[in-house]
Amino acid sequence: MIDRRRFLSDLGTAGALLASASWLDAIGYAQIVRGPARAFIRPARGRADFDRRVLGAFLEHLGRAVYTGVFEPGSRLADAKGFRSDLVREVKELGVPITRYPGGNFVSGYNWLDGVGPKAQRPTVLDRAWNSIETNQFGTNDFIDWCRAVGTEPLLGMNFGTGTAEMAVAYVEYCNVDRGTKWSELRRSHGYEQPHNVRYWCLGNEMDGPWQIGQLQSREYGRKARDVARQMRGIDRNVQLIACGSSGTNMPQYLVWDREVLEECFDQVDGISLHAYYGNTPALTRNSTARYLAMNLDMDRQIHEVAAVCDYVQALRRSSKRLWLSFDEWNVWYRARSGDAVDGRRGFAPRLLEEVYNLEDALLVGGFVNTLLRNSDRVRVACLAQLVNVIAPLVTNETGVLRQSTYIPYAWALRYARGRVLDVGVEAETYPITAAGLQADFARNDQVPFVDVVATHDAQNRQASVLMLNRDLDGEREVVIEWGDVTPARVLACETLTGSDLKAFNTFAQPRNIAPQRLEPPPASPRMTFKLPARSYTVVQLATM
Ligand code: AHR
Repeated sequence: MIDRRRFLSDLGTAGALLASASWLDAIGYAQIVRGPARAFIRPARGRADFDRRVLGAFLEHLGRAVYTGVFEPGSRLADAKGFRSDLVREVKELGVPITRYPGGNFVSGYNWLDGVGPKAQRPTVLDRAWNSIETNQFGTNDFIDWCRAVGTEPLLGMNFGTGTAEMAVAYVEYCNVDRGTKWSELRRSHGYEQPHNVRYWCLGNEMDGPWQIGQLQSREYGRKARDVARQMRGIDRNVQLIACGSSGTNMPQYLVWDREVLEECFDQVDGISLHAYYGNTPALTRNSTARYLAMNLDMDRQIHEVAAVCDYVQALRRSSKRLWLSFDEWNVWYRARSGDAVDGRRGFAPRLLEEVYNLEDALLVGGFVNTLLRNSDRVRVACLAQLVNVIAPLVTNETGVLRQSTYIPYAWALRYARGRVLDVGVEAETYPITAAGLQADFARNDQVPFVDVVATHDAQNRQASVLMLNRDLDGEREVVIEWGDVTPARVLACETLTGSDLKAFNTFAQPRNIAPQRLEPPPASPRMTFKLPARSYTVVQLATM
């Protein structure tokens, strides 16, 4: 947390300090009356490099994500394994560090055995989560092959819905045991002599949700997680296990679920999951873009709340173990969320959850990236939900891949955020938001800083980066960055994402409606003033001394 006395003494050059409102304080921001925002880098306090898994993604057997997204044998774009090679190129270029698979709701009715072995013998089944036909032509081994092709690490989900503890641990044995046991030999007979050594595992998905196949009560779930986790560690000591947290801040048992689950399985797990989807809707924002662009601060709040529960249970147990958080589903999702958009009508690869993302969505995704990075001391894993076709930055058709608007901030984070996340204090002008009429978990009377700033420093490669959101819909905002003990030498890149139409989006016919633009940077110096265009997300990369 911030050193308050130092913070206050640092303030004052750009305007008078008014108050430290609730969430401003929690993220190290202070409110000023007038003037440019000031972002000052505080001296390093030994923070380690952030875990790049915080910039992961999610691939579910859902709609066209796997079939025709990742895997389309017969397509002229497919490679020998049936993988869409254009998508492989895109994902490889993005550099997604970890990918969660195979669900999501799908996993709670999934029998992993159906998806391994000779393809001709794999059964076609009905996926009850999305009411779709699942041919099982793509399964765990195919996913691992795909992970290798694109350079991502697998994060496997387990079926805690219809699945038994026995089949869950058999899955770990199948994937991770070298040889000489029933399940490891089965893998070898399927052509995979070497173990996959999958390290990260989700113990079920959204098990508190009434929509979830096999929904459980918190303590039932916690005990099952404890049992499976214990057995898993017996098979492989190196696994990292993620318990299911509340599936959203609007759940009636939000935080109570997390506490009760952890009271049952704290000692056996390493992390707990958080999920959140956001939208510019009457209930969440009153369709106000100003409120919408503040929603990454709701994500900050959720992180702090769930972390507090983890710490509470840790203290109760007098444990020295600090759980980390896995924000393994996050995104904007509000348009394709009901009716035909979520019902596959027993079709194969139906068009489900095909959300079209516009400029304002992309700006908010930039905000989410900032939130995840500034909380990366606690959030070790996070997955943009999802990667392709289903609420995704990438969309395929028969001719190629489209980059949606949200691709841009995600790709920037992957490319530019490197090394250590710097400790940034920000003083900025703010605008008010009000609670009236909003869904309870988003009903807040608060002040929102016009700018949101995150910075990273890769000391080894002598590079620093800054990611900045300007929430001001009408005007340019100046941000003065005071670099402290980081010494900028040269500006390597400076790009912004902005536009006059917040509702504009990319299409296959017009793929550059939303595209980055070059922004004129100030010269590299210990104090740099950036002029952020109205409604923009900006990235800067610097060489440092
Ligand atoms: O990502 C889409 C769905 O949202 C997932 O299947 C589920 O876990 C969540 O409710």
